[in-house]
Amino acid sequence: MVTLTPTKLVGCFMFGIVLVLIGGIVDILYHEILPKRIQEEVTLEKGSKIYDDWVENPVTTYFQVWVFDIQNPEEVIERGDKPFLAERGPYTYREYRQKYNITYHANKTVSYRELQYYVFDEEASVGPESDIITSANVLMMTLADIIKREYSYVTEIAEIILDAADDSKLLTKYTVSQLLWGYEDPLLKRVNSILQNYNKTIDIKIGLFYGKNNTDDGLYTVFIEKSKLGEISRWNRLKELPHWTTKTCRMINGTEGRFFHPDVKTKDILYVFASDLYRSFYLDYLGEKQIKNIQLYSFVIPDELFAVSDDNAGFCTPYGHCTPAGLQNISLFKQNAPIYMSQPHFYAGDPDIINSVIGLHPTPIIHQTILDVEPMTGIVMNINKRLQINIYLQNVTNIRDSARFTDGLYLPMAWVNEIKGSFTSDLHGEDSNENSKLINPEKKISSNSKRKGQKPKVMFKDKDNDK
Ligand SMILES: *[C@@H]1O[C@H](CO)[C@@H](O)[C@H](O)[C@H]1NC(C)=O
Ligand SMILES: *[C@@H]1O[C@H](CO)[C@@H](O)[C@H](O)[C@H]1NC(C)=O
Ligand SMILES: *[C@@H]1O[C@H](CO)[C@@H](O)[C@H](O)[C@H]1NC(C)=O
Ligand SMILES: *[C@@H]1O[C@H](CO)[C@@H](O)[C@H](O)[C@H]1NC(C)=O
Ligand SMILES: *[C@@H]1O[C@H](CO)[C@@H](O)[C@H](O)[C@H]1NC(C)=O
Ligand SMILES: *[C@@H]1O[C@H](CO)[C@@H](O)[C@H](O)[C@H]1NC(C)=O
Ligand SMILES: *[C@@H]1O[C@H](CO)[C@@H](O)[C@H](O)[C@H]1NC(C)=O
Repeated sequence: MVTLTPTKLVGCFMFGIVLVLIGGIVDILYHEILPKRIQEEVTLEKGSKIYDDWVENPVTTYFQVWVFDIQNPEEVIERGDKPFLAERGPYTYREYRQKYNITYHANKTVSYRELQYYVFDEEASVGPESDIITSANVLMMTLADIIKREYSYVTEIAEIILDAADDSKLLTKYTVSQLLWGYEDPLLKRVNSILQNYNKTIDIKIGLFYGKNNTDDGLYTVFIEKSKLGEISRWNRLKELPHWTTKTCRMINGTEGRFFHPDVKTKDILYVFASDLYRSFYLDYLGEKQIKNIQLYSFVIPDELFAVSDDNAGFCTPYGHCTPAGLQNISLFKQNAPIYMSQPHFYAGDPDIINSVIGLHPTPIIHQTILDVEPMTGIVMNINKRLQINIYLQNVTNIRDSARFTDGLYLPMAWVNEIKGSFTSDLHGEDSNENSKLINPEKKISSNSKRKGQKPKVMFKDKDNDK
């Protein structure tokens, strides 16, 4: 458990710090005028700089995506070869967030939503969003799965899929934009027109991040009292997450991961709630680093977070039905699509799933989620939140192409690094030029094997260029 021992000084100013954090805190800290400045500027009144920064995060956040391009689709389908994956990326988006509907409650909580949107940054990408790659046909697999599970009585749908399967392939070509942000599939329209007769519909578009642009990730209610500042009290009015099957797994722990309690110690366990995983997770102390003369503690998602263990039993849905280590089943939240989250390259995952495809090289630091925390204030200075999205392919009736997947295959589709910070560096000791411009990635497609020896790229613009 985390023990809260705020120092008197820091405690006084904590709420202000949180507000400033999101904006100019880095500079303030850097200039070592933290307590005074915050004391003067802490006010939540509308129109104050602090309030504005809290509402609209002025620090540039990047949402970088690497997609997995299957090199041998025919061999996989016809001969049952292992998929050979080439990693392509980054495709870089600027992520913008703006809080709205901020409402203060008498019980020392505040609730809000946060609008999020993503704008493609071609300069910082390996190519345009129109690049073509080969990946799994999520729609086909999803429909097949849904049908098997829920609508086995709707025989018309099975027929439509059967029709479609003749001319569409389970492994198919997409543009990067289609794969990530969705496209309208004529098949979906037909399916929906049939489902309407049963008073059901499914989303008309399909894509890994479909529905994520120009929307919020839920209604947050967080504590504003000092001892629990920023800790989530409720998410979408829920005190706990009913989908998980044990009491501890259902708990909503921690903050949104942008700040923690003051006076962070190396022995602390830091809890974060992640709406894209529909769960809380925790980070352990990894090491110390120094940036611009500021000492930071790095915290990392530990390898056992997604292990098959008693602690994680409640994340198996249905209860007792667990995935191999390293995977988080989120089908329940994806209209039952067989979607599974993991760390990139199945880092810390079961070797069997890593080896069931060719081209993954799970590597510490590069593929882990790491937060750099300024220990005195608990403010998170750098975020590298890394997650991979996978689809489970299995042999299902009516889809001829799926026959090779009798044993099931967790196929990586894309992974994301959400990067935030006014400056950053990595533990490899390179790229510590904090004010360097956004590094322009090589304008060529890199495959895994080529990337293997490379240092991770670090990308930040200076603040002047943020807007
Ligand atoms: C915004 O807040 C108002 C008042 O609390 C509420 O009625 C409305 O539903 C909220 N809107 C959203 C999108 O949550
Ligand atoms: C605080 O009050 C708000 C509004 O009445 C309510 O929605 C929320 O559940 C309350 N939170 C706690 C922890 O009591
Ligand atoms: C998200 O929506 C904005 C418009 O609000 C648009 O400019 C942007 O291109 C969209 N991003 C993606 C990835 O579609
Ligand atoms: C669909 O909804 C309509 C109106 O609510 C109802 O009359 C009809 O019986 C429902 N059909 C089915 C198959 O549930
Ligand atoms: C939430 O925190 C409690 C300890 O306070 C822990 O036992 C539980 O496993 C945590 N649950 C999650 C989902 O992080
Ligand atoms: C994932 O969750 C779904 C929905 O609960 C379930 O049907 C499926 O069997 C689970 N997958 C595994 C591998 O446990
Ligand atoms: C795949 O599933 C279908 C229908 O369930 C079955 O007829 C077929 O034999 C299976 N294929 C293999 C290779 O097991």
